[in-house]
Amino acid sequence: MKNIVKTIIIGLGVFISINTEMMATEIEKADTVNGAQVWADTCMRCHNMRQPSDLSSRAWSFSMNHMRVRAGLTGKETRDILAFILSSKTESDRD
Ligand code: HEC
Repeated sequence: MKNIVKTIIIGLGVFISINTEMMATEIEKADTVNGAQVWADTCMRCHNMRQPSDLSSRAWSFSMNHMRVRAGLTGKETRDILAFILSSKTESDRD
């Protein structure tokens, strides 16, 4: 009987730690290095580069959803590019 309880407790512990690990991966910070790479590879295919200062942060998030569809980007690529663009904004240009 003691052994069963022990097994359940250990099993629960493993389950919880795997779960938190998965959650940590999901809310992982956007990868700006990958964003810069995908941005450089993709965004000039159809038009000139838009500078980070060309749009407000809010307009960028709208535009990236627009360009996600046009360029056929994955959700992760879209988030990474947006993070890269917003991190490239200068202090005075932040909004
Ligand atoms: C498949 C072609 C294509 C690709 C790839 C593409 N764009 Fe665009 N983009 C367009 C077109 C076409 C427009 C003009 C607006 C329209 O008519 O939809 C545009 C417009 C824009 C605009 C103006 C605002 C807006 O949303 O209309 C921004 C900013 C922009 N693109 C950024 C980007 C970025 C950043 C990338 C890379 C992730 C990118 N684009 C990749 C086709 C593309």
